[in-house]
Amino acid sequence: MLEPDQLPRTLNDYYNRARDSMSSENRAYFLSGAGGEETLLANEEAFVRARITPRPLREMGGGSTATSVLGQRLAAPLLIAPFAYHRLLHPSGEIATAQGAGAQSIKMILSAQSSVELTNVQAAAQGCDWFQLYWMGSRQATLELAEMALAAGFGTLVLTIDAPVQGVRDREIEAGFQLPPDMSAVNLARFAPPRFTAPDEGQSFIFDRIAHHLPNWDDVAWLVETVQVPVLLKGILHPEDAARAVSIGAAGVIVSNHGGRVLDRAPATLDVLPTIVERVGPDYPVLMDGGIRRGVDIFVALALGAKAVLIGRPVVCGLAVAGELGVSHVLRLLRDELEVSMLLCGCASIDDITPDMVHLKL
Ligand code: FNR
Repeated sequence: MLEPDQLPRTLNDYYNRARDSMSSENRAYFLSGAGGEETLLANEEAFVRARITPRPLREMGGGSTATSVLGQRLAAPLLIAPFAYHRLLHPSGEIATAQGAGAQSIKMILSAQSSVELTNVQAAAQGCDWFQLYWMGSRQATLELAEMALAAGFGTLVLTIDAPVQGVRDREIEAGFQLPPDMSAVNLARFAPPRFTAPDEGQSFIFDRIAHHLPNWDDVAWLVETVQVPVLLKGILHPEDAARAVSIGAAGVIVSNHGGRVLDRAPATLDVLPTIVERVGPDYPVLMDGGIRRGVDIFVALALGAKAVLIGRPVVCGLAVAGELGVSHVLRLLRDELEVSMLLCGCASIDDITPDMVHLKL
């Protein structure tokens, strides 16, 4: 275990140490993206294009990063993005992540593909009460998974809609990534995966087999109406899909391309965020993720209309390098950098961060 004085000092250092210490299979699974990784890179590159104008000499005493989303108080406008199989990175897996997040009063969204039972993660730390689910092949199975999470104490659901099939992840295929025998999505064990027969002559496996088990807007509307808790839709990139989410009663949307892991050449999330916010209006909860590597990136996303952001790979790296302590430290670094950005731009509160402060270079 690393002592506090052996921890990386910067977010970049966390990334480098994690990348260099991971097995090649884990590196490919956690850090790579789909296809040629254009979208993975575009997410980060969009933030690099942002320019922010400082505003000195404003009164900053008593400022705060606190905010609220869906009526829930957040110490800072960031949450841990749902990602699978934390035990590949640390023996305590999702429990270490939840405790690291809890130490910073940051919420963690638990993935349906958690490698630890959801009841144990929920009980491990305060603030782990958002659960991410995938469509489980039928209304009944999806509701059953949602009810499992609600019974365990989760109170907000995130339905991920952008990965109906796995992306073509070249680096993962080349590295021969496979889950070790002692690793699985333990909470999904009771749901038998659909068994597909081989497609008939001239048929497509994707369109004539898998596609028959995928959800449509009516299914999602049914889920939103049936569960008695807020449901956010994760994986929105088109303004009309955001408007549809509003119309079916979703509590919010998460602008996301799954961290560039599904459709390579999907747009960078930061680039589409403003048009989505414009379409649904400034009061509707629009969150975003993808490519956030620094606290200043959080500032930029908020300025362009996000109410909060989700953090994926920086937390992956914190967990890989130093478990619970690493997660906590990464979150602290992000929040400290956000505070520096706010102070330099004359924003004493999250509501002070406005679109005119950021300019995206073409
Ligand atoms: C993910 N992501 C993801 N999303 C989800 O809804 N359910 C999941 O189980 C997973 N699993 C997963 C595994 C790994 C290894 C990664 C890197 C990502 C996507 C995740 O929630 C988020 O959208 C992205 O990670 C955000 O991009 P950044 O912050 O990693 O750039």
